[in-house]
Amino acid sequence: MVPLRVLWLSFVHSVFAFTVAIPCSPADNAPVISPSLVSLSIEQDRWPEWAGTASRNRYFLNTLENLRDITGAPPYIRIGANSEDKTNFNPNVEYAEDIFPLPTVIVPYPEATNITVGATYYHLAHHLPEGTHVIWGVNLGQNNLTAAVLEAQAIIGAFNSSSCKVQLDFIEIGNEADLYANNGDRAKNYSSSQYVQEWTTFATNISETVKLNEIETKFLLGAFAGSSYKPTGFSPQAIYAEGVLNSTAGSLVTAFSEHHYSGSFCAGQGGLLQDLMTKSTIRGNLTIYAGDVNATHAQNLDYILGETNSFACHGAPGVSNTAGAALWALDYLLFATQIGISQVFFHNGIGFKYNLIQPVTLHRSILDGSPMSPLAPHVQPAYYAAIIAAELRGDEDTVQITEIAVNNTRIAGYAAFEDGELARALFINSEAFLRGDTNRSSIHLDLDFSDDSDAPSSMTIKRLNIGYADDVSDLTWGNQTYGTDDGKVDGTLAVGSAPVVDGVDISATEVVLLEFC
Ligand SMILES: *[C@@H]1O[C@H](CO)[C@@H](O)[C@H](O)[C@H]1NC(C)=O
Ligand SMILES: *[C@@H]1O[C@H](CO)[C@@H](O)[C@H](O)[C@H]1NC(C)=O
Ligand SMILES: *[C@@H]1O[C@H](CO)[C@@H](O)[C@H](O)[C@H]1NC(C)=O
Ligand SMILES: *[C@@H]1O[C@H](CO)[C@@H](O)[C@H](O)[C@H]1NC(C)=O
Ligand SMILES: *[C@@H]1O[C@H](CO)[C@@H](O)[C@H](O)[C@H]1NC(C)=O
Ligand SMILES: *[C@@H]1O[C@H](CO)[C@@H](O)[C@H](O)[C@H]1NC(C)=O
Ligand SMILES: *[C@@H]1O[C@H](CO)[C@@H](O)[C@H](O)[C@H]1NC(C)=O
Ligand SMILES: *[C@@H]1O[C@H](CO)[C@@H](O)[C@H](O)[C@H]1NC(C)=O
Ligand SMILES: *[C@@H]1O[C@H](CO)[C@@H](O)[C@H](O)[C@H]1NC(C)=O
Ligand SMILES: *[C@@H]1O[C@H](CO)[C@@H](O)[C@H](O)[C@H]1NC(C)=O
Ligand SMILES: *[C@@H]1O[C@H](CO)[C@@H](O)[C@H](O)[C@H]1NC(C)=O
Repeated sequence: MVPLRVLWLSFVHSVFAFTVAIPCSPADNAPVISPSLVSLSIEQDRWPEWAGTASRNRYFLNTLENLRDITGAPPYIRIGANSEDKTNFNPNVEYAEDIFPLPTVIVPYPEATNITVGATYYHLAHHLPEGTHVIWGVNLGQNNLTAAVLEAQAIIGAFNSSSCKVQLDFIEIGNEADLYANNGDRAKNYSSSQYVQEWTTFATNISETVKLNEIETKFLLGAFAGSSYKPTGFSPQAIYAEGVLNSTAGSLVTAFSEHHYSGSFCAGQGGLLQDLMTKSTIRGNLTIYAGDVNATHAQNLDYILGETNSFACHGAPGVSNTAGAALWALDYLLFATQIGISQVFFHNGIGFKYNLIQPVTLHRSILDGSPMSPLAPHVQPAYYAAIIAAELRGDEDTVQITEIAVNNTRIAGYAAFEDGELARALFINSEAFLRGDTNRSSIHLDLDFSDDSDAPSSMTIKRLNIGYADDVSDLTWGNQTYGTDDGKVDGTLAVGSAPVVDGVDISATEVVLLEFC
């Protein structure tokens, strides 16, 4: 290994060193991390293709099972989003009938504008890995109570058999109701108090029709696109004050879901990859919700990011689909835990630019819609963020994660504790090393343990290897790849090891996972 290291340093432009204090025990109130911290939100118009109809979509299943094999539990799956509010129910439809608008350069894979589903559509949830927890959305946007109730009945019916190995945790009523005044679903004066009235009417009818009080399924509240962060406008604080939890149906709410994107590509303008990756902007995009999270916890409800990703309207080309976005996703989902967000559901739709997983063969470019030769199912770089976060957490029952304070604008760090004992640390260098850049900086981290008597003596070092931040493939994690035909990992695992006193080098656009022994 020594010659390799010398060779490496010879083409690294600059190395500078500093010391990082690693805590030996979790911070007070450090969050306990769900084994399904990284979860998925799926655009529901093309759900049958994700799940597979006559038989399971083996590729998609493998990518979920990879995560389950690391943490012991598969990701939660939320099915809904934009197309949730365009869906009606017809018992005579097999799976789903979708009406799609034409693709455009900005939106190569548009959502269906009209979706009609039958009971078999919901039964496809049985194709998910055993033990998967599911959230399903029903239509509030079209203000058709009959449609929402028929959907809810079919959803409950799909999970209502003793042979069912997946569990319906939540019904969500409507997607991003805070946007209804702008998207034409409601009048311009649509307010949170009107939403609370409608929500209560829908939830009351649904809960009575399907006897929600007798089963484990609950309501997931919110699914708002943004927040006013205050007791007026659309925010959790506002709807709690307006009594959304006070009715019998409201008492069946156990969690609030917020949606968030760091920017938008809806008008065809993206942002810079470096800005997405930057530590301070990642924190800025999440700390805005800290008050909402606290207000939600004060009601004894869980707070999740039920739909999130980098850029709204399916992602920005050359940004959302790149290796740099994997570093963004990793820092973003881990920092989210630090303000009390319990799960992060990355949104995915077939052909969307920001996907973790492309579960079916694509025939046109995700970047501009141009025709291309068939591209088989594959993972995109952000999938590695899910794998790495899963490995940082591991499969013990009680794992806590504490952010490591790193006095550097580019290095983020997190420590994982198993039953209160330090197990692993992760560092992310979010300096974007882009194609065309000639120098790749590297930082040497010396590790200082707060309690010397507890300090580990040696460690293994696993690296996410990335050519350039704007690469869209060929990442390796411990020298292994998920870029395989079946989505399973391939290649021989290669991890380094070193005495802890040696510290670790981390170059621009790299992740290192340290396991202490
Ligand atoms: C959606 O399509 C179905 C089937 O073609 C049709 O009956 C229904 O009216 C459409 N709904 C809307 C809102 O356009
Ligand atoms: C629920 O709404 C449906 C459709 O509007 C109506 O027929 C039914 O009576 C309502 N049920 C309850 C329990 O409110
Ligand atoms: C509401 O949904 C029901 C059930 O599918 C359907 O029969 C009815 O036509 C819908 N109403 C409107 C106004 O679209
Ligand atoms: C669930 O199953 C039970 C027992 O088979 C049945 O009584 C009930 O009506 C079912 N509920 C739904 C919503 O399908
Ligand atoms: C909202 O606007 C509609 C007309 O667009 C009107 O009928 C309704 O009374 C208004 N509601 C409120 C609460 O002002
Ligand atoms: C709902 O209940 C809360 C807590 O009991 C109370 O503070 C609030 O005023 C109630 N809101 C309404 C609109 O009834
Ligand atoms: C969120 O991140 C984007 C970069 O992706 C940045 O432009 C924006 O300013 C950030 N927002 C906040 C509130 O920090
Ligand atoms: C939220 O609660 C945490 C823990 O009590 C506290 O440290 C933080 O300051 C609160 N943040 C806001 C914005 O209320
Ligand atoms: C952080 O680093 C800067 C120099 O980069 C230094 O001036 C400052 O004192 C450091 N802060 C802490 C808390 O160590
Ligand atoms: C390239 O070198 C300059 C000067 O040392 C440094 O500021 C910059 O961060 C480096 N770029 C990368 C991608 O490491
Ligand atoms: C990583 O894998 C490549 C090819 O798959 C191999 O050539 C290389 O030696 C491996 N590196 C290590 C450190 O094992």
